[in-house]
Amino acid sequence: MSKSTDELFKNVISHAKEYGFVFPSSEIYDGLSAVYDYGQFGAELKNNIKTYWWKAMVQMNDNIVGIDSAIFMHPKIWKASGHVDGFSDPMIDNKDSKKRYRADQLLEDKIERYDKDGKTDKAEQLQHDMDEALKNEDLPRLKELIIEHEIACPVSGTRNWTDVRQFNLMFSTQMGAVADDADQIYLRPETAQGIFVNYLNVQKSGRMKIPFGIAQIGKAFRNEVIARQFIIRMREFEQMEMQFFVRPGTQKEWFNQWKETRLKWHLALGTPAEKYRYHEHVKLAHYADAAFDIEFEFPFGFKEVEGIHSRTDFDLSQHEKFSGKKLQYFDPEVNPETGKPFGNYVPYVIETSIGLDRMFLLTMINAYEEEDLSTDEKQDSRTVLHLHPCLAPVKAAIFPLTKKDGLPEKAREIMDKLKVDFNIQYEEKDAIGKRYRRQDAIGTPFCITVDHQTLEDNTVTIRHRDSMEQERVPADQLDKIIGDLVSW
Ligand code: GAP
Repeated sequence: MSKSTDELFKNVISHAKEYGFVFPSSEIYDGLSAVYDYGQFGAELKNNIKTYWWKAMVQMNDNIVGIDSAIFMHPKIWKASGHVDGFSDPMIDNKDSKKRYRADQLLEDKIERYDKDGKTDKAEQLQHDMDEALKNEDLPRLKELIIEHEIACPVSGTRNWTDVRQFNLMFSTQMGAVADDADQIYLRPETAQGIFVNYLNVQKSGRMKIPFGIAQIGKAFRNEVIARQFIIRMREFEQMEMQFFVRPGTQKEWFNQWKETRLKWHLALGTPAEKYRYHEHVKLAHYADAAFDIEFEFPFGFKEVEGIHSRTDFDLSQHEKFSGKKLQYFDPEVNPETGKPFGNYVPYVIETSIGLDRMFLLTMINAYEEEDLSTDEKQDSRTVLHLHPCLAPVKAAIFPLTKKDGLPEKAREIMDKLKVDFNIQYEEKDAIGKRYRRQDAIGTPFCITVDHQTLEDNTVTIRHRDSMEQERVPADQLDKIIGDLVSW
């Protein structure tokens, strides 16, 4: 990371804390590693991102419905899904510092360093060798690469490494009051399995016809060994996932369609297209026959925000096997090749899976600007979040120009009407300029000032966050002016 991007990222993190977006969890106890709390404006922004996703996926698609399944699930589910045996990261310990690292992360950091130093050939070669080793699950080779490329422990600076081992990422706990008869269960590492095990319930109760989708937003938990880059890699995080059930043989077509649709969803928020790229997976997860990530250019480089996976019939077939229940769908449509109905089959699944917290961070970074407003006469600046109005935590702030002459009462009267539809803030403390700055910092698109003229003709000034321009408008049109800009 160059100094300026490094600084920008640090500034976004401190801004997020100072203005009530994200706090370290359990901070008065010195925090809990890789766990974060969302503050008053963070919770609003997060909810707005969820709404934007839910509307785009569920409300706008007749054939997609949403559910909310439990975090606790039968332990056999994780055996069937492959998570008990296969959901692990390759770990390596440094014998001197006793610190544990993800072997692939150490190698990726080295690749980044080669790139930065202009050693492109070395970077490409190492990338290729690492991808091969990961694809073949060749743990000794990963260690060899760490040694060959003289990678030292970031803490001790030594190269005294253990062998590479697999480390399961699921958190487990006991269900039941008495430890002896308690069953070991897991905190779900993805929300997707709650959709798979309910797919027939939803299909039957909703009389859904293939192709159809089931969407869900919820918490997931992973015992990530290294916590990194703020809310990019957390131990408790949130996912927005959708499983799209299709007829076998049509998965490629749907995969391509969802890949495009999902990128469009990101771009519709106004993010420059060059900030995004697709990344094709070389090492496919145990369930997938094709996978692409949508990556965003964070200040520390391109990182995955969303995965589009063609999961075949792996999960449903595994659940058939482990539960002993049939999970087939009867497709009444006539197959033009045979002239008979397609009949019973286990559907194939295309999954779109986006990390809500990464989407949150991306949104903050994209919106954040330290703007220089200096003129010849005076130095001035502001920190502003250029959030898309539909995502902004507060849609408008209402300021009485002074605290007397009936202006606060009039301002509150206007606010009471608007707050039925929008999240509104009332502020009467400090000079108007200072109040503008506070609202700019949390990304409020409109500031409305009530002054003496308002008492005469019921007009107010409305100040636009990005242009900082002001106009005078009738107070009874505010509903429409705000509504037009913040509606989905
Ligand atoms: N059901 C498929 C699945 O879970 P994944 O690629 O492991 O796929 C999907 O996760 C998304 O969840 C990622 O693209 C990322 O945005 C988010 N995610 C995964 N692990 C995360 C973590 N430890 N902290 C924050 N977000 C995470």
